[in-house]
Amino acid sequence: MSGLDDVIAAETSLSEVDGLNGRLVICGYRLEDLAGRTDWENVLNLLGGRMLPESAALRERLGMARQRAFAETRWLDDGIAALSITEGLRALMARLPDGEDQETALLLAAAPSVFVPALIRCKRGMAALPPDPALTHAADMLAMLHGRAPRAEAVAALDTYLVTVSDHGLNASTFAARVVASTRAGYTSAVLAAIGALKGPLHGGAPGPVLDMLDAVGSPEKAGRWIGEALTRGERLMGFGHRIYRVRDPRADALKAALARLGAAGDVDRERLALAEAVEREALAQLKVKKPDRPLQTNVEFFTALLLEALGFPREAFTGVFAAGRVSGWLAHAHEQIEGGRLIRPQSRYVGPKAA
Ligand code: CMC
Repeated sequence: MSGLDDVIAAETSLSEVDGLNGRLVICGYRLEDLAGRTDWENVLNLLGGRMLPESAALRERLGMARQRAFAETRWLDDGIAALSITEGLRALMARLPDGEDQETALLLAAAPSVFVPALIRCKRGMAALPPDPALTHAADMLAMLHGRAPRAEAVAALDTYLVTVSDHGLNASTFAARVVASTRAGYTSAVLAAIGALKGPLHGGAPGPVLDMLDAVGSPEKAGRWIGEALTRGERLMGFGHRIYRVRDPRADALKAALARLGAAGDVDRERLALAEAVEREALAQLKVKKPDRPLQTNVEFFTALLLEALGFPREAFTGVFAAGRVSGWLAHAHEQIEGGRLIRPQSRYVGPKAA
């Protein structure tokens, strides 16, 4: 059944994914010129355009929006805390009012970075911590998670991550956001649809299972056998393969570099890294042999898992942190769809029984 491969479903000036050459361009900048070189607020500003305040005011307004989002954590009760973190994020986001205005966009941009640390702490039986609008967005997210001022290296690594995942063409969650935005339901509904799509393991749900795979492999010398058996059982290796990229995912390289910088600062477990290197090496070698017709390379999720773990996020929260970065793209696409697009309403071909 078709997965809409090669179907052009929107025109966008937000990002371009060149799968043959492994290039990602966001608003005219190559990923390599953004990731590790600028912070998420700047990329939000690039993507947000007229939907958001002028860049000079954006940081302050985003800080205020984090405070507004924190007020919404009053809804974080035992019922929500019992859900998975992605489901909890979805539940809290669902309480935000809908609209197509700047305040709604700002609140949605800020909210996942506030709700995810609050959900993590709540699940650990700890109180959610309020944001500090004077901090950068990434620094504040880490401070709300750990309850202390984060190190500059950790802030830089989280910024690199949030920038790297900020937008990526018409991926499944962004498409879902555009479909909903096209009905004029509002930004909140569009972002909620996107979170639903992101949750699946074939999209943004993959990085947690990457760590599960590393744990199951156990040690570098067992990597070859474990991967061989998994592929023989017909399983998919999490963190490998992509619909668009036929060469290495450039986001994997951006995050690998960020991980190396964090490692140089002493913040990465060396044993974990050695295991991951062995698994990646074996996976690429065996996928080449077992799937000769399909070039399968490391994707963004493999290094996401290692980087977010090193930053102290639990694996259940990885999809939520993905949402905290990708929300910039969802909002920008929703806005673009509302400004220039029409109702998205494709057709299906009926193949069911004929009516009598
Ligand atoms: N491990 C083993 N085999 C794979 C994998 C994998 N990770 N990915 C694809 N294949 C095989 C698949 O089994 C199929 O083989 P065959 O033709 O013999 O049946 C062939 O490659 C083509 O697969 P496909 O399902 O047609 O490819 P797709 O474009 O629909 O899937 C994908 C893309 C990302 C869903 C898939 O590669 C996958 O499931 N990867 C693992 C999950 C993962 O890492 N997801 C995160 C994606 S990156 C984040 C994002 O941008 O959303």
